[in-house]
Amino acid sequence: MPNSFRQVGITALHESARLHVTGQAHYTDDIPERQGTLHAALGLSSHAHARILAMNLDAVRQAEGVVAVLTCADIPADNNCGPVLKDDPILADGMVHYMGQPIFAVIAQSHEQARRAARLGSIEYEPLPPILGPRAAKQANTAVLPPMRLVQGDAAAALAQAPHRLQGQFECNGQEQFYLEGQIAYAIPNEGTLHVWSSTQHPSEMQTLVARALGIGVHKVLVECRRMGGGFGGKESQSALYACLSSIAASKLQRPVKLRLDREDDFMITGKRHGFYYEYDIAFDEQGRLLGADVDMTLNSGYSADLSGPVATRAICHFDNAYYLAHADLRALCGRTNQQSNTAFRGFGGPQGALLMEVVLDRIARYLKLDPLDVRKINFYGTEDRNLTPYDQVVSDNVIHELVAELEASSQYRERRAQIEDFNRHSPILKKGLALTPVKFGISFNMPSFNQAGALVHTYRDGTVLVNHGGTEMGQGLNTKVAQVVAHELGLPLSHIQVSATDTSKVANTSATAASTGTDLNGKAAQNAAAQIRARLQEMLSERFHVAPEQQVFANAQVQVGEQTFSFAEVVEMAYQARIQLWSDGFYATPGLHWDAQSMKGHPFFYFSYGAAVAEVVVDTLTGEHKLLRADLLHDVGQSINPDLDLGQVEGAFIQGMGWLTTEELVWTDQGRLSTNAPSTYKIPAVSDCPTQFHVALYKNRNRMDSIHRSKAVGEPPLLLAFCVFNAIVDAIASLSVERIEPELNAPATPEAVLMAITALRRRASHA
Ligand code: MTE
Ligand code: MOS
Repeated sequence: MPNSFRQVGITALHESARLHVTGQAHYTDDIPERQGTLHAALGLSSHAHARILAMNLDAVRQAEGVVAVLTCADIPADNNCGPVLKDDPILADGMVHYMGQPIFAVIAQSHEQARRAARLGSIEYEPLPPILGPRAAKQANTAVLPPMRLVQGDAAAALAQAPHRLQGQFECNGQEQFYLEGQIAYAIPNEGTLHVWSSTQHPSEMQTLVARALGIGVHKVLVECRRMGGGFGGKESQSALYACLSSIAASKLQRPVKLRLDREDDFMITGKRHGFYYEYDIAFDEQGRLLGADVDMTLNSGYSADLSGPVATRAICHFDNAYYLAHADLRALCGRTNQQSNTAFRGFGGPQGALLMEVVLDRIARYLKLDPLDVRKINFYGTEDRNLTPYDQVVSDNVIHELVAELEASSQYRERRAQIEDFNRHSPILKKGLALTPVKFGISFNMPSFNQAGALVHTYRDGTVLVNHGGTEMGQGLNTKVAQVVAHELGLPLSHIQVSATDTSKVANTSATAASTGTDLNGKAAQNAAAQIRARLQEMLSERFHVAPEQQVFANAQVQVGEQTFSFAEVVEMAYQARIQLWSDGFYATPGLHWDAQSMKGHPFFYFSYGAAVAEVVVDTLTGEHKLLRADLLHDVGQSINPDLDLGQVEGAFIQGMGWLTTEELVWTDQGRLSTNAPSTYKIPAVSDCPTQFHVALYKNRNRMDSIHRSKAVGEPPLLLAFCVFNAIVDAIASLSVERIEPELNAPATPEAVLMAITALRRRASHA
């Protein structure tokens, strides 16, 4: 029977939208405090690299309201909260490796008292020289992991024989996640077990690390997260320190303990997006067709491994972006520095890998005096041939040609290119720039084992449904999409579905909500659970009414069975009376993935997401300031489950990416102090930075792979759309010299950096 009832592919408000805007949404700090709750604060290292010679914490202990002071000696079992390697001490043990590293924890009656007392520690250090920044790490050849290398074809031979070759360097800075809700955990002891509320993208890992630090079984720890006020990757691994410390204190004192960072401490302690330093050697022909690439990337990993390994892997696997490379030698070094341990941030190394390619393609185009869009187009992956990635996965779902053609037309790229050239000829001070950059982004965790998820669906006797799954809600709308999937499966309106907090006692061994896979994995698992319930109901109905399952229609909270119509609640009650199980678990594992980490070859991605964007900027050549005048975004989310949520993700990711490449600047002093550690000194984009003409559209497509309702992941890929803003700024600067001298500009393109690039370019032009 045809069923036109749909709960996917429709616009539905974010499940918490009203709660968000009325201030009624509960974040971890809003959970009513239990009687006797204590508050923790951290004592931080004031050196970037030093031996701790002596510690006098008497004044801390004697401060008003202080109940306990913990050092590494108080950690019952494992003083480590590293997600991959055991190189992340919870509290420093003898050495400090960055300025801001936690050395001790104060537990006091109030948050204020704990914070005041934490400043009173007297610590004697023997300072050691710090290594700061990726270049210094490369020079010192110091790394947190063995170097990585991906080789395809023979890059050296291709470079030697090529008609043209460009060599150079480039650098991009890191980026603070700047989630609105900072890091926080609240632990409550309960009859020998612990209940931990953690603002985390990875409850199962928090559970494991808390158990490990305490030396107890994982079954003794329950981690719960209703929602985060943003995570952006910063709460994938780095929520662990707070989950572990609040748990250690709660377990030792047998009282509830809350640990909430204020913004400056959050900046000082937690890792950010990795800054990268690149050296490249690229070969190409007269038309700009890429012939060979030799690329050396150094990550600023900070003092420990954290997620640098997977971030570097994704960077290497995304250098190709949307372009075919027959010969490539791609290397990454996870440089060890005396800085915060850098971690996941939206795109997870993908942006840093592909950014270099997009910067280099523009450099090639300027060198050959071609339009950069033409150079891009002849390098796009082919559909029938020229479709093998350097890591040996065939690109079989390519839509980049059609997508870019559509955007080129709708954005009037060629007309505006001509208008801008004309404008620049007549405008001596203000210079405009234009750029179009594409994105191809691989979806799945590179590590195949992470690509699994579970869900629990309970149907109650009144016909309402409770859903629990292993993913976490951080504002992206995962719970809304999963609720839509379940509603669709059972023929119910969304008002019948409630999604409950993520809870390790409900679905076990979950993966991080990361790599944009939240809906792909948890949506499929929840669909699997709901489908099992529906199948049981259908079987009951066909036995009772002799109407085949295909002749039953579940829609609008009703079930049509032949000539009769029942409410969904009536059918559920029939099933209850017949003693049929009305709840189910569900599971999903992404098929067809394999990966060899050593050779960096395999089939790491289920499919690719595509997109492209055009930016037009105007640069004031006297001040270095710029304004994004217009942006046109066209992004592929397959068949969207919720177009409004997807548009929100595309817009947000683009603006966040633009912040990384233009205004957000992390500055460390020579001593290794992060001096941009508050919103007053670290500038994220504001409403006024959004372009006045902002055209955002979803590309009409359908996932060729059997993803959840043929949709595609949307969380991270559109962050890479912001490359065009950076390239448009460089394009504007380049217009200052008739000889098309290559501007020297690294990311972020702050006004200072732009002004310096302009000055340097003018100096070189006058010498030319
Ligand atoms: N959107 C909001 N509003 N807040 C966030 O913290 N994180 C991003 C992205 N979109 C984030 C967000 C990151 S880094 C990822 S990996 C995905 O959401 C994770 O969610 P998903 O897999 O459900 O898309
Ligand atoms: Mo997103 S960086 O994978 O949490």
